[in-house]
Amino acid sequence: MPCSDFGHPFLHEATTTFAVMPNIIVEGGKSLSGTVQVLGAKNAVLKEMVSTLLAPGRHRLTNVPSILDVELMCQVLEHTGCKVEKGHHELWIVVPEELKPEAPIDLVRAMRASIVVLGPLLAMCGEARVALPGGDDLGARPIEWHMGGLEQMGAEFQLVHGELVASVEGRLVGTEVELPFPSVGATENLLFAGVLAQGETVIVNAAREPEIVDLAKQLSAMGAVIEGAGTSLITIRGVDRLRPVGHHVIADRLEAGTYAVAGAITAGDVTVTGCHPDHLRMEMKKLAEAGCDVELGDGWLRVRGPERAVAVDFATLPFPGFHTDMHPQMVALLSVAEGTSVITENLYDARFRYVGEMARMGADIQIEAQHAIVRGVDSLSGCPVLAPDIRAGAALVVAGLVAEGVTEVGDATHIDRGYEDLAGRLASLGAAIERSE
Ligand code: EPU
Repeated sequence: MPCSDFGHPFLHEATTTFAVMPNIIVEGGKSLSGTVQVLGAKNAVLKEMVSTLLAPGRHRLTNVPSILDVELMCQVLEHTGCKVEKGHHELWIVVPEELKPEAPIDLVRAMRASIVVLGPLLAMCGEARVALPGGDDLGARPIEWHMGGLEQMGAEFQLVHGELVASVEGRLVGTEVELPFPSVGATENLLFAGVLAQGETVIVNAAREPEIVDLAKQLSAMGAVIEGAGTSLITIRGVDRLRPVGHHVIADRLEAGTYAVAGAITAGDVTVTGCHPDHLRMEMKKLAEAGCDVELGDGWLRVRGPERAVAVDFATLPFPGFHTDMHPQMVALLSVAEGTSVITENLYDARFRYVGEMARMGADIQIEAQHAIVRGVDSLSGCPVLAPDIRAGAALVVAGLVAEGVTEVGDATHIDRGYEDLAGRLASLGAAIERSE
C-alpha cells in the first residue's frame, strides 16, 4: 500500500526523507491485541534447503516463510544446478545427480548462511569452492570451527583469491570433533558431512538449538542415522545414500518472540499461535519478570503487557539461554521500562550497532564493552532511523509502536530477510503501520 493510502497526512512529510528505500512507517500509541500465527523458522529452513543437496531427486518443504533469505538460498541452490519451484509457503527442490560444487562471493556476501553448503558439497562431490565470508553487520563471524572439524574428517582447505577451495580424497571419514563453543553453523556443517561419511562422527559440545533438532529430523527421514540432536553430544553413523523427502519446517521462535514483545511494549494482549513456547522459555521468563502476564499453551503463547514494564537484566547465551536474536527487541521494551537494566551480549561483538538509532528516538543506553546499561525513559520520540540488521530492524519497529509520533525505519530490506510482512502482521494486531517501497 503506498503511503498516501495510509490516511495520516504527517506521513507524507516523513517519507520524503527516504523516498528511494523500502521503509516501514509506524505511528506509535496503539495497543496491540489479537492473534498472529507464525511461519517456519528462517534459521531452520535455510539449512533444510541446503540438506536437500545430500540426496538427488525431488524434495518438498512446507511451512516455508516468504522472506528474502529463502529467495537468496534458492539462488545458491540453483547455482549448484538444482531446480527450485515455489508455491505458497512451499518449495520443491529438484537435486541433480551431478552438482556444481560452488557458492560464489556475490551469493555468500548477500547471505552468510550460504557457507553451510560446504559440508554437503564436500560429502557429495569431494570438493567445494565457497567464497570465504567476511564479517557482517554483527561482527567478524569467522568459520574456523567449521573448517577445523571438516579437516579432522579428511578435508583439505586452501584459500585462493578469497575463495575456500576444499577437497577430500575419497570419502569423508567420521571422527570425534570437539567444538570450542556450541556453534550453530559448525554443528550443521559437521552434521551434513557426517551423514554420508565413512563410520561414526561424534560432535562434542554441539549446538542444542531447536532448529538443529528439526534439521536432524529431516535428515533422519532422508535415511540418516543421528542420535542426540538437541543435546551437546551428537552421534552420526554415516550411510551410503540418502533419499529425498517432504519436510514441514519448525515454527520460527524469533518471529513468535518479536510479536510477544510487540504485545508487551504496547500494554497489549497478543496471542501467538503455531509456535513452540518451550523454545522461548528464557525469553518468556524475562518478559514475565518485566511485569508481563505470560501464558504458555500447547502450540501457543499469550502475552499481556503491563502499563509500564520494569527493568530486568539478561545475558545472551546459546539455547536454552536467552537468544541473541531476541536481544534488540527486548532492549526496545526495556528502554521505556521503569528502572535500569543491564544486558550482556555474549555472542556478537557488533550486536550493539543499533543502539545509536534507538538513542535518536530518545533511549538512554550506555555501552560498556559487551554490556549495555539501559536506563528506562518515560517515552520515546518517533524519527527516521535505519535498520542495521534483521533483529535490530524489528526492534526499531517495535520501539516505534510506542514512540510519540511517527518512526520511519529505513533499510527495511534487512527486516525482509527474516520476517514475512512484519508491517502487515503488526497492522493485523492493530498497529498503525505501513510499508513504503
Ligand atoms: N564462531 C566463531 N568461529 C566459528 C563459528 C562461530 O568464532 O567457526 C562464533 C561467531 O562469530 C559467533 C558465535 O561463534 O560469535 C556463534 O556463532 P554460530 O556459529 O552459533 O552462529 P551462526 O551459525 O553463524 C546462526 C544464526 C544466527 C544466530 C546464531 C546464534 C542462521 C542462518 N544464523 O548463526 O541468526 O544469531 O546462529 O544462534 O542460522 C538471525 O537470524 O538474525 C541470525 C543472525
